[in-house]
Amino acid sequence: MHNGWNLDSQNPSSRNAITHIFPFERFDVSVIFSFAKQPNPKGSNHVLATGKIVSRTLCIANQKGGVGKTTTSINLASGLATAGHSVLLVDMDPQCNATSGLGLEPAKQHPLITNTPIRHSVLATDVEGLDVLPGSGSFRDADTLANSDQTATEIVVEHLRSGALIYDYVLIDCPPSLGTLTRAALAASNEVVLPIQCEYFAMEGLTQMIGVIKEVMLERPGELTFGGIVLTMYDESLELTAEVDADLRQFFGEVVFDTVIPRDVHVAEAPSHGLSVLDYAPRCRGSRAYTELCMEILERD
Ligand SMILES: Nc1ncnc2c1ncn2[C@@H]1O[C@H](COP(=O)(O)OP(=O)(O)OP(=O)(O)O)[C@@H](O)[C@H]1O
Ligand SMILES: [Mg+2]
Repeated sequence: MHNGWNLDSQNPSSRNAITHIFPFERFDVSVIFSFAKQPNPKGSNHVLATGKIVSRTLCIANQKGGVGKTTTSINLASGLATAGHSVLLVDMDPQCNATSGLGLEPAKQHPLITNTPIRHSVLATDVEGLDVLPGSGSFRDADTLANSDQTATEIVVEHLRSGALIYDYVLIDCPPSLGTLTRAALAASNEVVLPIQCEYFAMEGLTQMIGVIKEVMLERPGELTFGGIVLTMYDESLELTAEVDADLRQFFGEVVFDTVIPRDVHVAEAPSHGLSVLDYAPRCRGSRAYTELCMEILERD
């Protein structure tokens, strides 16, 4: 089980000359490894200057498109709520897939750039305990957020953190980019979870993504930890899947969640019914996998 950060045996520098599918020499994950080895000095919660404890905030990010960020966000959020936690799912993506995937309407203006308190902008879902801060498809809003300066980003981050206070878990679904939206989401989070599809090109995005995570970690020491890598749309009949899986686990060790999310048509169908797969097809493989992933995440609390 993924229950700690004892990564000594995974030191990238001790890598031998075995041929891997991933060009590991292109990675510099030293900062992630050093942060991952340290217990978070603030525990798993943010503590604001006022001394208030904020929920555990997980940012689901990968700048590569279509890797399962939104699917993972919706199903983790739903699974954590079903387990009895209060959960806020924040849709940071102008595509608004997390909002529409739960059968909700996007906002006219993104709640994070209005002065309205977040609690007035959240939408309740049919899943008890799960609220959604809807995304907005307004290009003007996306532009405002995406081109915002440092101060504006800080305002978004504080807005998000203060609005999150009443929840046990906050999950942020990021857009497929490394721009301001993703940086603000990372800055507001205390863990980043990276969904990765087992294919060669997954590596390309990972290198850049890790660079940005490192930058945010260095800007905010002790605030952001590396939550883990989750392998999505896993197809065990493909040789490439097994190779990528083995390589990632050898390199990242326990950072990779034990649970893999299989490719399952029910997972893809669920959002068209405005439901998480846990509600749409509770007994399917995808549902079981997302439940297991929730358990792995809860075990680390
Ligand atoms: N386990 C799965 N089995 C089958 N289909 C899946 C699975 N996970 C995701 N999909 C499908 O793959 C597509 C991409 O998934 P998703 O929208 O979650 O990715 P994303 O990373 O959020 O994309 P974007 O970068 O555009 O925001 C969707 O059509 C989704 O339904
Ligand atoms: Mg998405």
